[in-house]
Amino acid sequence: MCGIFAYYGEKKNAPHLVIEGLKNLEYRGYDSWGIAYKNGGDIIVHKEVGKIGDINAKDLALGESSVAMAHSRWATHGGVTKANAHPHFSEHNEIVLIHNGIFENYQEIKKDLIKKGHKFLSQTDTEVLAHLIEQHSRKHSFEESVKMAVKEIEGRYAIVVMKKDEDKVIAARKGSPLIIGVGKEHGEYFIASDIPAFLAQTNKVIYLDDNQICVIGNKKINFYDNATNEEIKKRIIEIDWDVESAEKGEFAHFMIKEIMEQKDTLNRAINQDPKNIELVAKAIEEAESTYFVGCGTAGKVAMVGAYLFAKISKKQIHFVFGSEFQNYKDFINKKTLLVCISQSGETADTLEAMEIAKEKGAKIASIVNVENSSIARHSDIVIPIKAGPEKAVASTKATTSQLAILTLLAYACDGGVEIGKQLLIRTASQINDMLNPRYADHIKKIATKIKDIESMYIIGRGANFPIALEAAIKLQEVSYIHAEGFAGGELKHGPIALISKNTPVIALVANDDCRKEILSNAQEVKARGGYIIGVAPTNEEVFDFWIRVPDVGATSPIVNIIPVQILAYQLAVLRQNDPDKPRNLAKSVTVK
Ligand code: F6R
Repeated sequence: MCGIFAYYGEKKNAPHLVIEGLKNLEYRGYDSWGIAYKNGGDIIVHKEVGKIGDINAKDLALGESSVAMAHSRWATHGGVTKANAHPHFSEHNEIVLIHNGIFENYQEIKKDLIKKGHKFLSQTDTEVLAHLIEQHSRKHSFEESVKMAVKEIEGRYAIVVMKKDEDKVIAARKGSPLIIGVGKEHGEYFIASDIPAFLAQTNKVIYLDDNQICVIGNKKINFYDNATNEEIKKRIIEIDWDVESAEKGEFAHFMIKEIMEQKDTLNRAINQDPKNIELVAKAIEEAESTYFVGCGTAGKVAMVGAYLFAKISKKQIHFVFGSEFQNYKDFINKKTLLVCISQSGETADTLEAMEIAKEKGAKIASIVNVENSSIARHSDIVIPIKAGPEKAVASTKATTSQLAILTLLAYACDGGVEIGKQLLIRTASQINDMLNPRYADHIKKIATKIKDIESMYIIGRGANFPIALEAAIKLQEVSYIHAEGFAGGELKHGPIALISKNTPVIALVANDDCRKEILSNAQEVKARGGYIIGVAPTNEEVFDFWIRVPDVGATSPIVNIIPVQILAYQLAVLRQNDPDKPRNLAKSVTVK
């Protein structure tokens, strides 16, 4: 949700540098963008509606500067307009600010500032903070003014601020990610919402934590705890991401690159330090109750996890979407284990569930892709999924890696982690065989046939029921076709009324104890005119179109979602949608 990238150093091309770096964060928001940089005694601001990825910085006639900040927006408060795009100026254009997150009490502060004579040019919450800082700076130093202002605002945020007559850049965070890159030159720093913004420049990073402020100036960087005002020491961490893994390479889009990478990413998830798996399995054994929590796709993965535990380790696990977790808070105590599943490790709703559980004394484990993310850093135990940067907004490779980890955990809780591992290794090798151009071409035939339909449905049973829900998310978000997933047995209780001649219905079939029933459900659909696309290890009479998947038993959720990911991608391309940046969405959802 919103990308932030700022530079402070000696390089004179800071405006170009932040624009180019920000393009790597466009997955975080892409409705409008803007830049601010120091030029002589002035601050120059340039904003536009649209995607920063479409911009060539050279065409913008930007001046030279060694201090600059850029922002790509995902609108929350106020429509997609140039006026609402960031950066925002304060009343007398002295303060300029970019922001990711939401200030919940901005209206009260705004009213107060209006009484003091401030006039606002946008509908955003962000502009209010710029004005508030300027208001304080009439009596206090720039640094003090920022510290005072962030104490007054409520909500989750990451901000970067500059002042016209000060050689300083100040950043603060609460609940939204902000990472400092330590440049190669003395006194050179980058501030970004995510590492790919500056990965080409440095792999040395400092993670800003909640309620911390960072002040860069005079070639120095200092950190403060905003509650106590005390200076704090921060650790520099060297990360091992490489630039290529964050780039598209020969692929047309990140989404298809990431789908194809599943050949390798699954192996990386499976062959990791077994200690992580053992520790979480032990915590599940010891807990009186365990909750799997996630949002969107990660929420569907959590739901699959509950099925896997019921089947493999005969253990009841509760599954809850992050945004619904507060409804269960009365059941959470010191003997509860919360397992947070998140690709980004920054999802606000999952973080909030974690905060609620922590307050009640529960133990927290997490399964995350972005190591050192907020969720990872605040967990007692972390299992990294090691999928590498996932840049397409629609999650693909992170999903299957999360599913692999949950499968390992379920086997580990049954005392058979090695059985689970061997099954997963076999599955990964069969996926390797499956993911070839012929397979994608076969799926393209069905994509071409159904590309103009209005609605489609996906059915599954058992652990493939949540996969039907996940399949629907994938199709919705990139093809914009109305898609819904159902438990096969639920159709006759209502949704079957939606089926008419040639309505496409994907049946997710596994060679398990649900097989016969899901095939009967497919028959019921077919009898009403539905067109059945079977994702299954064997071709069945009821299928009008068959997409073969390997016969893998308990890992069927992993193999069954992959062809739907490919179908969703191909539908997006055929319908001329951008599969990497679907409309209205952003990759990292750091607002509630
Ligand atoms: C859909 C998708 C989202 C995310 C959800 C949670 O393809 O990616 O539904 O799964 O926003 O994000 P993370 O996993 O980063 O917590």
